[in-house]
Amino acid sequence: MPLITEKSNIIESLTSPFNLARDEAYQVWRKEKLDNYPDDSAKLVVEISDLGNISDEESNSMRAILAKTNMVIYTCRNVSDDPASIRKGLTALSARFGLNANEAHRSAGEENIVALEVTNLDGKRGYIPYTNKPLNWHTDGYYNASGQEIGAFLLHCARNALAGGQNQLLDPEIAYIRLRDENPAYIEALSHPEAMTIPFNREKDGSIRLDSVGPVFKVSDDGMNLSMRYTARTRSISWRDTPKTNEAVAFVRHLLDGNEPLVQTITMRPGQGMINNNVLHNRTGFENSATDNNGRLLYRIRFHQRVNIQANSF
Ligand SMILES: [Fe+2]
Repeated sequence: MPLITEKSNIIESLTSPFNLARDEAYQVWRKEKLDNYPDDSAKLVVEISDLGNISDEESNSMRAILAKTNMVIYTCRNVSDDPASIRKGLTALSARFGLNANEAHRSAGEENIVALEVTNLDGKRGYIPYTNKPLNWHTDGYYNASGQEIGAFLLHCARNALAGGQNQLLDPEIAYIRLRDENPAYIEALSHPEAMTIPFNREKDGSIRLDSVGPVFKVSDDGMNLSMRYTARTRSISWRDTPKTNEAVAFVRHLLDGNEPLVQTITMRPGQGMINNNVLHNRTGFENSATDNNGRLLYRIRFHQRVNIQANSF
């Protein structure tokens, strides 16, 4: 039996831009959203001086970009090489944005921070994030059960690759706008509580993950926040079998296949990182240098909450 716990995600709020019956609210929000939207990842970058203790000015700059694009990239001027100190800094940085409900990930180390690097360690071996292969477009945790969705994540680059390892990022609200402008029925199809199913899987540790059934687009109860659950994978996935769902999925693929000008591209350098509301992202393949122990290393923390844009300290 599939696990269906999603309620129907019909938005009734009169002020919600995501209410399909209220085009006026959508048009106002859409105009503001697209007005002056950053068209280059350099415009998403804020310089910070200390991971673990950002200034109010740095925090405000980061918040302004997050509010606009659901993502921000930071460049830290002074980064320690010490993993324990980086982990501590990342935890403190996240907390400044109201992010503390960490996902309990099977591969998480201290403070639920996952080290993403090429490895053959048990529990990580065989999973693409721990290889140098490309990762196709997705949002994090798209296979999670309802209620366990990932609202935000942080990625921090400790070491870059010799070549490759580029990320592309797309704000889900931009994807929403493109789909709704093309055909509002696409939004309706992708908001259906059974739009996308990831079939059950026996994990490598023997545990069973049940079918994950849910919508692609989901709006918060107050109608103001949009989240997206998506993977471009074509195997081990089933889409709700309706013509509009198929058309909508094809349109998303078309966007992500090089036809969306507001996709952001970045190859992070050591000391750089990003905080985001689980935006769409991918990764190109990469090459490490021949020396074994200095390959690309990113730290990742995933959270069940979204970034708190309003408050400034916690
Ligand atoms: Fe990811």
